[in-house]
Amino acid sequence: MCGYKGGQGKTSRPEVRPVAVLDFGGQYAHLIARRVRELGFYSEILPHDVDLSSLKALSPQAVILSGGPRSVYEEDAPDLKPGVLEWIVERKVPALCICYGHQLVGDRLGGRVERGAKGEYGTATLTILRHDPLFEGTPRVQKVWMSHMDQLVEPPPGAVVLARTEVTSIAAFRLSELPLYGVQFHPEVRHTEHGLAILKNFLEKAAGATPNWRPESLAERKVAEVKAVYRGGNVLVAASGGVDSTVAAYLTMLAIGSDKLHLVVIDTGLLREGEADEVVRTLRGLGFKHVHLVKASREFLEALKGVTDPEEKRRRVAAKYFEVLERAARELEAKYGKFKYLVQGTIYPDRIESGRAGRGSDRIKSHHNVTLPEKLGLELIEPLADLYKDEVRRLARALGLPPEVVTRHPFPGPGLAVRIVGEVTEEGLKILRRATKIVEDEVRRAGLYERLWQAFPALLPVKTTGVKGDARSYEYAVALRFVVSEDAMTAEFAKVPWELLERIATRITNEVKGVNRVLYDITNKPPATIEYE
Ligand code: XMP
Repeated sequence: MCGYKGGQGKTSRPEVRPVAVLDFGGQYAHLIARRVRELGFYSEILPHDVDLSSLKALSPQAVILSGGPRSVYEEDAPDLKPGVLEWIVERKVPALCICYGHQLVGDRLGGRVERGAKGEYGTATLTILRHDPLFEGTPRVQKVWMSHMDQLVEPPPGAVVLARTEVTSIAAFRLSELPLYGVQFHPEVRHTEHGLAILKNFLEKAAGATPNWRPESLAERKVAEVKAVYRGGNVLVAASGGVDSTVAAYLTMLAIGSDKLHLVVIDTGLLREGEADEVVRTLRGLGFKHVHLVKASREFLEALKGVTDPEEKRRRVAAKYFEVLERAARELEAKYGKFKYLVQGTIYPDRIESGRAGRGSDRIKSHHNVTLPEKLGLELIEPLADLYKDEVRRLARALGLPPEVVTRHPFPGPGLAVRIVGEVTEEGLKILRRATKIVEDEVRRAGLYERLWQAFPALLPVKTTGVKGDARSYEYAVALRFVVSEDAMTAEFAKVPWELLERIATRITNEVKGVNRVLYDITNKPPATIEYE
């Protein structure tokens, strides 16, 4: 977990046998890995073409092959490395092959995959044909979630067909008496009614796996890991007040104390009302001795002047952030001595970019906080690099951190800059800060804050006509983005009470100068992203 380069370097791993999730592209691998962990089993994502020797070295409790967007008969279709499937079959390694994995293994074991006459997308009705531990405790007819065009039309020799749907005659199979299963549907997706029960059955009943994962109990191990890599010297933390960087810093403090630990909070001017001071206060309250506030609003606003392209905005904020951080570090070094380490709150999805198995997945947005430039020349400490966000929150709670840290909504590195569509101006920031305060207060007051992944306003670069008092107004529109999500990879717009929206709209149009219209965003992700830029 510690002392390696984010996203690139080797990782130290927990000393537990993982469930290995082989990533065949698309968005599925992380979802599968999270579900497995939810059930109490440690999981790790590996590329689909992992070597047999590396896989063996992990001694996985089970292997799960994910879905993916390709066709098994395409040229260069993602495949397992030679020897892997043979090893799974010969050594009776429990395996669950999902969607593309189901077709791939079905095909490689001698079955036949064809392009279906029609695809099967969304909810389908699964009928179980044969009793099997995989479906134990679930009804004979149940709703599952499907997303495929190809299908396995002939089972491999020795396989028994366990279930079908109206479109797919082999919706699940098991290879003879082996714990090797193929399922065409996605048990990891919430829309599969009994998906979690099926995964649980696979792990507990078919694989006989031993539960070995409880994020709440990780603190001691994480602290020991930080201790193991730390060989003295000053430690720098770029702190945002967010749950990830705060927990990473807190674990480091538990490991090395607070004398050598320096937290730098940069006020980019792109933060929410009073946020920089509040973050500093919270961090000091947690016992951090050196919390340094660097005020740099002017510089950031200057760097963003005239820029409207979203990616360019992100690049400029990132470049400025590093520049300010480096300068702050040099100044602190003059007083306290050299920095040796940098603590980052990198989490598992930041590090393992799923979907690389596909035809080159598009970079949707560049997130600036994944890796800091090498020129800082510091060794990285990343205590959370194997955790998902909800696991970080569970750990934070177990560490006794206050609710304002544990339940805090994610806030993007580039801050309000990506919530102002178009050029970032002082006027825009002022409007958005006021509107954000109103939204957050009202959402909390309604008791909904913890139920939502995020809830914020964005400023649109359009003016529309309105009437305020008796006069015509021509002012900006603000869009409210309230979403529920488990991991931000997908999200649904939140169905909050109209009364709450009305109260927010009334307050914003009354209290925020320059806004005369409030819109509610009813788009899910995909196709829309959560942030506006
Ligand atoms: P999108 O907009 O891609 O966002 O659906 C997914 C999640 O990531 C957050 N986000 C960021 N977080 N630095 C961050 O730390 C960033 O540059 C950044 N951009 C988006 C976003 O708030 C959402 O939770």
